[in-house]
Amino acid sequence: MQVKTFDNTTELDTFAAQLFAEKLKDKPNATLGLATGSTPVGIYGKIIEMYKNGSISFKDATTFNLDEYVGLAPEHEQSYAHFMKEQLFNHIDLPLQNAHLPKGIGADLKSECTSYDQMLAEQPIDIQLLGLGLNGHIGFNEPDQELQGGTHVVELEESTREANARFFDKLEEVPTQAITMGVGSILKADSILLVVKGADKAGIVKQALQGPITTEVPASLLQTHKNVIVLVDREAGRLL
Ligand code: GLP
Repeated sequence: MQVKTFDNTTELDTFAAQLFAEKLKDKPNATLGLATGSTPVGIYGKIIEMYKNGSISFKDATTFNLDEYVGLAPEHEQSYAHFMKEQLFNHIDLPLQNAHLPKGIGADLKSECTSYDQMLAEQPIDIQLLGLGLNGHIGFNEPDQELQGGTHVVELEESTREANARFFDKLEEVPTQAITMGVGSILKADSILLVVKGADKAGIVKQALQGPITTEVPASLLQTHKNVIVLVDREAGRLL
């Protein structure tokens, strides 16, 4: 595991965006694993800049997002589908039919999970971007005694709903469930880029990178992967 600490967010975001640009240069039809939350917003901003100045193109790329809230249609303003359009997809040349997110609505979420896993098996992820939840979750894989390998529906922890309530008008509007890629699928990515920002994540990033490998800190399973790069800002990295 390679850990890089940055003095400022712009440098971190630029470095991360460059890793995506390099991947697409080597392999224009790469499969990119994408994440939501506030952490990747600056990275997506840099990627858009690179696209606008002609140094990156997504026209042959495919993307898979980690997760989506159950019960929110893609048009819903707080859905991750909407977030991705606003923050990235509307500003680059990625064909929208190549942009995949699990669908959080529909009668049969089980078959949605199966078909998402099938697509992932057909187009394995070359580089997976990950943020880190305050409780150590990756995607929406919450701490538990057991974790699931494939895409599945998960009950969100109260602390996760509270952490994400800032994007909603009130806590009651935050869905109680999500559909998420499993830890097994995340670990199948060829390379993983874990990005952690802010003082409030200093303790959990230390546990994830240096603590015991345990399902109670889902991100600690990343220690078992052969090709993980961790990018932290000074505040998040201060205990490492
Ligand atoms: C959300 C997402 C995760 C994300 C995490 C951290 O719940 N499901 O994929 O990494 O929370 O979010 P943030 O970057 O806003 O701190």
